[in-house]
Amino acid sequence: KQTDNQLIIDAGQKQFGATTCGSCGMLYSTDSPEDNFQHTQFHQRFLDTIKFVGWKKERVVAEFWDGKIILVLPDDPKYATKKAEDVRRIADSELGFQQITLSSPSSAKTYLFINSDRMVVGCLVAENIRQAFRVLEQQEKPKDMNKEDFMEHHRAWCCSTMPEKAICGVSRIWVFSLMRRKGIATRLLDTVRTTFMYGSHLTKEEIAFSDPTPEGKLFATKYCET
Ligand code: ACO
Ligand code: ZN
Repeated sequence: KQTDNQLIIDAGQKQFGATTCGSCGMLYSTDSPEDNFQHTQFHQRFLDTIKFVGWKKERVVAEFWDGKIILVLPDDPKYATKKAEDVRRIADSELGFQQITLSSPSSAKTYLFINSDRMVVGCLVAENIRQAFRVLEQQEKPKDMNKEDFMEHHRAWCCSTMPEKAICGVSRIWVFSLMRRKGIATRLLDTVRTTFMYGSHLTKEEIAFSDPTPEGKLFATKYCET
């Protein structure tokens, strides 16, 4: 038994079998049957979810050499809102959120970055922030949310210079792990600023992040500075 344990520890140190799937991005150990099983379970479901077949009507709000951004609104056809929701679920589970409802579903705008391989590789959910949400230092919460939920999920963090005038709240931003550091999150946010409010270009100061992750903080800090 001693030797078995020792073997496992050594294997861990040498990272035997640890691999990142080049398609779905999952990190798992090829030596572990359980890991293999979990990967198989995850792999196809994930790829199906981010697959984008194209829609009859797409609200394309930005185009790039390596992809495009489409906007999905709450009243769009079911196939569009369903895709937005499925991708949001993936983001949520990666962010460790429970399946929480949006603070104002009727105003939530979902921006999806579609790459040239027809995959949804980025997702950003932007919502109108109400007064209560705006001044985060005062610990106010939206009326329709109970205190526990608010404290648990919205320990919100804003770009340090200015939560005061924020009118757009980014409640989620997620980029597919294998596609990070290519400016996808940056382009999603730039697009939100020009399209969130009709006829007006939002400043970086008018956008607030509700941010639970260190990665999100690094990104937001960089974005708000530049
Ligand atoms: N570490 C350090 N700096 C970073 C990181 C990081 N992990 N990610 C972004 N940055 C900074 C860099 O300065 C980067 O510029 P550079 O690549 O030229 O150095 C700059 O931000 C712009 O980065 P993008 O390429 O535009 O960001 P990306 O497309 O990689 O997406 C994101 C960033 C969304 C945070 C991604 O890493 C992700 O999905 N992470 C997991 C989910 C998550 O944590 N989301 C944020 C939660 S907060 C919220 O939802 C409100
Ligand atoms: Zn995989």
